[in-house]
Amino acid sequence: MNLWRSGLLLLALSLGNPALALDLSPQELAGKRLYREGVSAAGAEVVARVGAADMQVPASVTPCASCHGADGQGRPEGGVRPPSLSWQRLALGRGERQANGRAYPAYSEASIARAIQQGRDPAGNRLDPAMPRFSLAMSDQRNLTAYLKRLADDRDPGLETQVLRLGTLLPQAGDLAPAARVVGAVLAGSVARINEQGGIHGRQLQLVVLDPGPDLASAEQALDRLLGEEQVFALVMPLAPALDAVLATRLEQARVPLVGALAHSAYSRQIFEPLAGVREQLQSVAGYAEASLQAQRLSTQIVYAGSEARSLAEALQADLQQRGWTQVQVEAFSSQVPTAEAIFYLGSAPAFAELTALLEAAGRAPYLFAVSSQMGSEVARVPAQWSRRVFLAYPFIPSDWTAAGRDGLSALREREGLDGRQALLQVGAWCSMVLLEEGLKRAGRDASRDKLVVALEGLHDVQTGLTPPLSFGPGRRQGLEGAHVVTLELPGPMFYPVAPYRRRDL
Ligand code: HEC
Repeated sequence: MNLWRSGLLLLALSLGNPALALDLSPQELAGKRLYREGVSAAGAEVVARVGAADMQVPASVTPCASCHGADGQGRPEGGVRPPSLSWQRLALGRGERQANGRAYPAYSEASIARAIQQGRDPAGNRLDPAMPRFSLAMSDQRNLTAYLKRLADDRDPGLETQVLRLGTLLPQAGDLAPAARVVGAVLAGSVARINEQGGIHGRQLQLVVLDPGPDLASAEQALDRLLGEEQVFALVMPLAPALDAVLATRLEQARVPLVGALAHSAYSRQIFEPLAGVREQLQSVAGYAEASLQAQRLSTQIVYAGSEARSLAEALQADLQQRGWTQVQVEAFSSQVPTAEAIFYLGSAPAFAELTALLEAAGRAPYLFAVSSQMGSEVARVPAQWSRRVFLAYPFIPSDWTAAGRDGLSALREREGLDGRQALLQVGAWCSMVLLEEGLKRAGRDASRDKLVVALEGLHDVQTGLTPPLSFGPGRRQGLEGAHVVTLELPGPMFYPVAPYRRRDL
């Protein structure tokens, strides 16, 4: 990438909206930044006074877009109804307008400033105190007003008349390359199916695939490119673990939604995962172990392999202690033989095989608890002494598959030359596309990234044909809340579901 280009991308990203979809003047761009991020052109902090008590907070905590939406169309939440800020509706033409039971004449530039700074509309009505009062320098107010005039036309990138562009990051080399090939094939197959059925709201889907490269720097560069020059509207199922620590923040800054299964993700408003995370899946296993094995009374070790799994291990320890497990220790995997009666394992499949070999050699067979996604094909090689003593979380089991789901996946496998290996990844990518399709349909022809986030959040009981029904909600970003618990009968192995997946509210 040449210098000029990367400089431009940097500029675009620091403005919050990576793609300059609309040609905005410097003044309008400064206004946009204030609108979306609550930051003034001079870089000074803008103060907002919120609520009836006029509490002062930085505007960056409560920027206009957080209530009125990045698209300015208003995002009702908890009984508060921020109106549309379309300039057309606010200020153009004559005649009375209405919002939340107030009636008032057209806004002017001066009365807009009064609404924003003092909380009164042009008729002198007090605005609901849910609308903060912002202290703005004159230049900031001018920038903001200039942007409000363009807001309605400032469409999110990647949304064109006939095309909607999605992006993903899939490595072509390294350990993850085989997985990436599978994910790429499922995404491509799903996109082809949706397009053959006419696309979504008259738009054909286009998938931009970039290679995240070997490290954080290369992965960030690829992400910048997706959001910058490639102009993608949303991300789907990237495989770029190097980005884990920064992804949520980056997506929140750019307000880009992502649908996909991630390895270690923290909660983010922008990220929707079809299946439950490792931590949530292990809660299901713990619930079963308490009910059937009274495992909360056993000495328990959480053994993790790889430093990335450490924080997860500590989180799990806290979860277990809260559930009443009294003797839980966290330990990094080493050549030392764990002595506990029950072991939760977190880490990769090869290290799991080393762990069982170590225990076997020491003549120990404690209960083993783990998630299937971390076991891979090692499941087939668990030594026989763990028959019905190993318990694994599975997000789905064969009985979740409907005829339609099975047929759909077989057709896709055939078309893309896939076999049954990496079924979990296949299902993860499949479900991600089902969710995106459903979310985009609901977001409407006049979609925006914000509308997509709201639409995804509103999805309940989505039938994927391959998993239990997926549901989201405010503060809920995983489609499943746990997993089925399955034990292995060895040798074999034969798989026995011992506790079905249950939603927590059922
Ligand atoms: C915490 C949520 C929130 C934030 C942040 C917020 N607003 Fe509002 N805004 C509202 C609500 C709610 C109303 C409706 C008040 C009413 O109708 O009484 C409103 C009303 C308005 C109105 C009056 C619209 C009309 O039809 O009379 C304008 C103009 C406005 N906001 C602009 C802005 C701008 C510009 C910003 C950022 C500088 C901003 N708002 C930030 C919640 C918010």
